[in-house]
Amino acid sequence: MSAEQLETVLAETRSFPPSDDFVNAAHIGGMDAYKKKYQESIENPEKFWGDVAEELHWFKKWDTVLDDSNKPFYKWFDGGKTNICYNCVDRHLDGANANKAAIIWEGEHGEERVLTFRDLYREICKFSNALKSIGVKKGDRIAIYLPMVPELAIAVLSCARIGAVHSVIFAGFSSESIKDRVLDSECNIVITSDGGSRRGKILPLKKIVDEAVADCDCVKNVVVVKCSSGAEPYPCDFNEKRDLWYHDIVKDQPVHCPAEELDAEDMLFLLYTSGTTGKPKGIIHTTGGYMVYTYLTSKYVFDLKPEDVYWCTADVGWITGHSYIVYGPLQNAATVLMYEGAPNFPDEGRFWEIVEKYAVSIFYTAPTAIRAFMKWGDEFPEKRDLSSLRLLGSVGEPINPEAWMWYRDKIGGNRCPIVDTWWQTETGGILITPLPGVTPTKPGSATLPFFGIDAAVIDEDGKEQQAGLLSVRKPWPGILRGIYGDPERFKETYWCKWKGEYYFPGDGARKDDDGYFWIVGRVDDVVNVSGHRIGTAELESIYVEHPAVAESAVIGIPHEIKGQGLASFVILRKGFEGSDELLKELNNLVAQKIGKFALPEKIVFSSDLPKTRSGKIMRRLLRDIATGKDLGNVTTLADPSIVESLKSKYQDN
Ligand code: PRX
Repeated sequence: MSAEQLETVLAETRSFPPSDDFVNAAHIGGMDAYKKKYQESIENPEKFWGDVAEELHWFKKWDTVLDDSNKPFYKWFDGGKTNICYNCVDRHLDGANANKAAIIWEGEHGEERVLTFRDLYREICKFSNALKSIGVKKGDRIAIYLPMVPELAIAVLSCARIGAVHSVIFAGFSSESIKDRVLDSECNIVITSDGGSRRGKILPLKKIVDEAVADCDCVKNVVVVKCSSGAEPYPCDFNEKRDLWYHDIVKDQPVHCPAEELDAEDMLFLLYTSGTTGKPKGIIHTTGGYMVYTYLTSKYVFDLKPEDVYWCTADVGWITGHSYIVYGPLQNAATVLMYEGAPNFPDEGRFWEIVEKYAVSIFYTAPTAIRAFMKWGDEFPEKRDLSSLRLLGSVGEPINPEAWMWYRDKIGGNRCPIVDTWWQTETGGILITPLPGVTPTKPGSATLPFFGIDAAVIDEDGKEQQAGLLSVRKPWPGILRGIYGDPERFKETYWCKWKGEYYFPGDGARKDDDGYFWIVGRVDDVVNVSGHRIGTAELESIYVEHPAVAESAVIGIPHEIKGQGLASFVILRKGFEGSDELLKELNNLVAQKIGKFALPEKIVFSSDLPKTRSGKIMRRLLRDIATGKDLGNVTTLADPSIVESLKSKYQDN
């Protein structure tokens, strides 16, 4: 968030209480009910979470709710045996939900598929049996690189059913990123598709996977979902020895497959995310705690009711899709809408057409999308009947009050509460959020902690402050259990700051007089571009692979739509000069190593960067240059003149 945005937020005094109707019908209605339950959850978390877990199916009950004998390697529901896929699907087959729509899918070209819970059960069982038939066993790691089609949810849930660990890789990542992730966790199967649809074009997913796995000896099979519909198949190569068509391997499989009885602490999935080094981290989530946490947060934050049509526009390739498209809502027997495609195809009104068509009642999206909708114009939502909506959500980055107000007015008709939900890949589920039938909302604030979340704003010494670092003082069931293959990095990144006592998310925050949290943004070298986390160190290590580059520094800059963009300052080696050609080469390198979504807004070539006399790059100064701030005293720099030259280069760029 820029300084200006922060100032606007600080001056924000508007407050919007939920309507009486909403309060009366909500799962949790009214502030008193919230406070009482919150108090109980903090005073006796084991009782609180144990009671919640009772609402779900366990093959064997746990011995302890929370085992904190080996901090920070917490265990939840240890000794318990369960299966999250069973809780998402099988649990709903006994009664009226069996024939309820579990997934409503719309393709970019208007194709439709509806899977009831019974259909979903059968598809999952068939694919689970197919995976077993090709030798997949409990604990195997399976990479999934698919567009937003029902098979993505089916693949995720099938892995969960048989105890295989899924590692979903967002379909915008490049082959090198896939390779790194597959090798890091030694996946033996990759599930992909012939292609996917995006803004009228075909994404050649199989081709990208082929390039990725060419160097991965661990991969035994590539399972390929045929996504192309109509007469023309998406063209792709097929390696008869390694590749298997999804439809072939599921064809003759039985429609029942027992759900594996898993230990609560068995690994459920890995999801890679950026940190402050060049290497993404494989975040580990396990079965029981993640299950209970996503179940309860979905139920209360989205106030899920049987008749809701719930649409989260995230991709299952990110944590939001894992927790709030697949696992959380399905455990609550919600009807989930999935859309494969762009919000502006064939025009900028596509989302509102979908809301009208399926009578969507809960809509959960990202501030970057909201800012794009604002820019595209009010006429698109105005053309459609959005009266089915009753609740709106926001996630992924701080939402600026202007976008919040627009969302409330133009999409929510000044009728729908907005839940601005703060959380992370590592937290597994939502930690700070309004509850729609409880919390008077303030534009730009994620408001109050969820049950069991003891959040605080503190300084480096652990003292509470009005502005400072966000911390969480108690573990909760959905918390990450580690970084794959790197327990030291896990401890260092999240637990070192306050002697292992509190979880450190890496965000700065402010707490107002009402106890509301205002998340300011990252305090480390991670940038939220359109809500996608990008570690600046990742780009920096890519640039130096180019023979022309000696050193680089990448920073986050304010961006009207993306929230933040990236600016790269690149020092060239002697004998090289900045040119459009070189710029293109560097961009290609980033697209090839990470994906196009990580491209910077600007690249500035320079002979030097502002450094302290000890040689440390002063990123703060680079940020000030980028935002046009007064640079103040620069005499501590090794070479103060560099700042002026960078300033003019940045402006000319
Ligand atoms: O900086 C915070 C921001 O997104 C980061 C987490 O990114 P990721 O793991 O990719 O997960 C995104 C989806 C949960 C956080 O450290 N962030 C997320 N939600 C919010 C937010 N910042 C402000 N307000 C939010 N509601």
